[in-house]
Amino acid sequence: MRYYLILINDNNENSVYMSLTFVSTGTTWMQEIVTLISSRGDPHLSQTIPNWTRAPWLEQYYCADLLKTSTSTPRVLTTHLPHHLLGPALQGTKARIIYVSRNPKDVLVSFYHFHKMANFLPDAGSFPEFLNQFLQGTLHFGSWFDHVRGWTNQAAALSLLHVSYEEMSMNLHGTINRVSSFLQRPLLEHELNDCVKHCSFSCMKDNKMINYTLIPDEILDHSKGCFMRKGEIGDWKTMFTEEQNQYFDSVFKSRMQDCTLKFVWEK
Ligand code: A3P
Repeated sequence: MRYYLILINDNNENSVYMSLTFVSTGTTWMQEIVTLISSRGDPHLSQTIPNWTRAPWLEQYYCADLLKTSTSTPRVLTTHLPHHLLGPALQGTKARIIYVSRNPKDVLVSFYHFHKMANFLPDAGSFPEFLNQFLQGTLHFGSWFDHVRGWTNQAAALSLLHVSYEEMSMNLHGTINRVSSFLQRPLLEHELNDCVKHCSFSCMKDNKMINYTLIPDEILDHSKGCFMRKGEIGDWKTMFTEEQNQYFDSVFKSRMQDCTLKFVWEK
């Protein structure tokens, strides 16, 4: 934990921005939004520096070295860490954290497709097997339920803004406006419009600094899929059978009964 404290403990109110998410939730999208807000809509950084360098992963070995040598402010960080590992280290820091959630059926389907491409992860197995593992929380990155429940209701304790993938999808302009206010970086209308343009699905899909096509096939097998896949709400309907849906709903109901978050399942 001391390692994280050193990285993120900063006395300056506005110097650390963090995109905090479960996997396949819109992490890359929020990295982009925060980068573009920080540069007032100018896409230069987004188009010239890979997202893992300009918004490094806190849990990855290279992050500490990168931060030691980086002079850029704000520091934009990314993480999938669950609350029980990162939450205590964040107490008392001034990091501004944006927690993104997404309806878990779409997370599951998106993660399944990503898992099949990712050679650094174990075999994804069949979709029904994957669904079971997701619900049991035995996949890499742990339990979606624990992640979301752990970080929900932390807004008062931390400087944390909650944003949903669905909100981003249905009102990108409004979401960027909300995030920029939270980061205390209000934008002019034309800057906001530039941000919206450069973090649209089509723009991001074509940007090799974002779409992970720079990652070699040994790590991400591009013949098996595309990271910027569909970007839709409700794609789970193309994969779930009625039986799987009922099973998912029953687990969701029992695990999330005391969670106040509301999810949008379809458009
Ligand atoms: P799909 O697989 O459903 O298409 P993460 O970055 O957390 O791994 O999330 C990846 C998911 O976010 C993928 O979902 C990807 O297409 C989607 N995504 C990334 N940028 C997006 C954008 N600008 N608009 C819509 N969806 C986006």
